[in-house]
Amino acid sequence: MHRTEVISEIELLEKFSKQGESYTNSSGSYGWRNPIRSDTGIILQSLVIAEDPVRILEIGTAHGLSALYLALGMNENCFIDTIEFDHDVGVDTQERFDRLEVPGKVHIGEALDMINKLEGTYDLIFFDAQKSHYKRQLDLLLEKNLVKKGTLLLADNVIDRSEECAEFLHYFLENGINHTIIQTECGLLVGKL
Ligand SMILES: C[S@@+](CC[C@H](N)C(=O)[O-])C[C@H]1O[C@@H](n2cnc3c(N)ncnc32)[C@H](O)[C@@H]1O
Repeated sequence: MHRTEVISEIELLEKFSKQGESYTNSSGSYGWRNPIRSDTGIILQSLVIAEDPVRILEIGTAHGLSALYLALGMNENCFIDTIEFDHDVGVDTQERFDRLEVPGKVHIGEALDMINKLEGTYDLIFFDAQKSHYKRQLDLLLEKNLVKKGTLLLADNVIDRSEECAEFLHYFLENGINHTIIQTECGLLVGKL
């Protein structure tokens, strides 16, 4: 992975408006993708450094801003799978990974369908697609044993979109799962199964 180039790419993506305006690149405009806010990337990177995972799953790729931060924290044995249902965006982000030699694969399709096709277990999951689907995505991950005791669960937007995340948040409380919410602009849940 070209770390210096990944950092430059992050700097470029961070310059785009995060809310309300379109991302554009040479292929045109992709619309509003609501990526992580600028306070969150460094936390994602730090958690990956501390956790030293081998397999990461991200749900909600967009243009790969959060994935690039996660990748910066990864050691050379780690691989990131990430899911995006917008075909053009997914293809573009895979090209970005390939150009930067980020060890990652964009799975293009609806998250629940893609999760159904995954195998093995993941050490770290980052939820950042449809907020109202976080709980059912977690249920499926549990049902398929894609997560295990010790898997680190991260989820964005648990403060600014807490109503949509309510069922998901309730799961952590109801089951006594060790977790906290970092008071970022959007609210980042950090929990460990
Ligand atoms: C909040 S953005 C992800 C931002 C990205 N994690 C970042 O910070 O750079 C959510 C992305 O998930 C995709 N998405 C939303 N619902 C989805 C679903 N049910 N299945 C797959 N992708 C989905 C959207 O197309 C969008 O690109």
